Amino acid sequence: ETKPRTPVIWVHGLECTCCSESFIRSAHPLAKDVVLSMISLDYDDTLMAAAGHQAEAALQDTIEKYKGNYILAVEGNPPLNEDGMFCIVGGKPFVEQLKHAAEHAKAVISWGACASYGCVQAAKPNPTRATPVHKVITDKPIIKVPGCPPIAEVMTGVITYMLTFDRLPELDRQGRPAMFYSQRIHDKCYRRPHFDAGQFVEAWDDENARKGYCLYKMGCKGPTTYNACSTVRWNEGVSFPIQSGHGCIGCSEDGFWDHGSFYNRV
Ligand code: SF4
Ligand code: SF4
Ligand code: F3S
Repeated sequence: ETKPRTPVIWVHGLECTCCSESFIRSAHPLAKDVVLSMISLDYDDTLMAAAGHQAEAALQDTIEKYKGNYILAVEGNPPLNEDGMFCIVGGKPFVEQLKHAAEHAKAVISWGACASYGCVQAAKPNPTRATPVHKVITDKPIIKVPGCPPIAEVMTGVITYMLTFDRLPELDRQGRPAMFYSQRIHDKCYRRPHFDAGQFVEAWDDENARKGYCLYKMGCKGPTTYNACSTVRWNEGVSFPIQSGHGCIGCSEDGFWDHGSFYNRV
């Protein structure tokens, strides 16, 4: 309680803002406790009250005051074509803001598929050359928290771990926190017994769909997707895509838009 709160700068590049939408719905811990008691969210151009020059001043003040001690959270990615002109923040290309804020950060969190892998804006033919954060920032520890968006409690769980232990969580070979991304959706899916028994949904709304059979033949990507949806679930553990009747589209995997994840039946 006496420890100063860790400053966090949260920047936004090309993205849809649903990673923030997910984050603010965290129940364990509550997002308000993270923002008001655990971290000091000194800059977030989506959530902060300040705007314009006042906001830019807050960014600069935080960088100067906490050099080497703040966490940089990145939602979205920088487009590099046309000198970065496809995403402008504070009158400058986002890539400049990203590099500037990363220079003195102690670690970088790449929120979501956009920051981690590029997501839809990097899908072929990627006209703006949207580029994942780790391909632009190469001299800092980067924690990828993929998903489109990531699960709220995974986002706050990563932050909680970093604040509690003052170190990065254990990462896998792709740079994702192993505690949330070491298992496939398929490994813990409650429909798995139907998969093992060869019981599959063959058409949307068929009798087998009503019985809750496995969605593999409807294109479910659970067997190749690493994420915590089948264990942590969404909306305070209420449900996840497969429980709502739709297969996993592999939203936490690299390049899922280009890999035929949508309605690509087997
Ligand atoms: Fe939106 Fe998905 Fe990008 Fe998050 S990863 S900002 S949810 S498009
Ligand atoms: Fe695996 Fe998907 Fe079937 Fe679940 S619904 S058992 S994740 S293939
Ligand atoms: Fe995404 Fe699949 Fe989970 S689509 S939300 S990783 S079940």
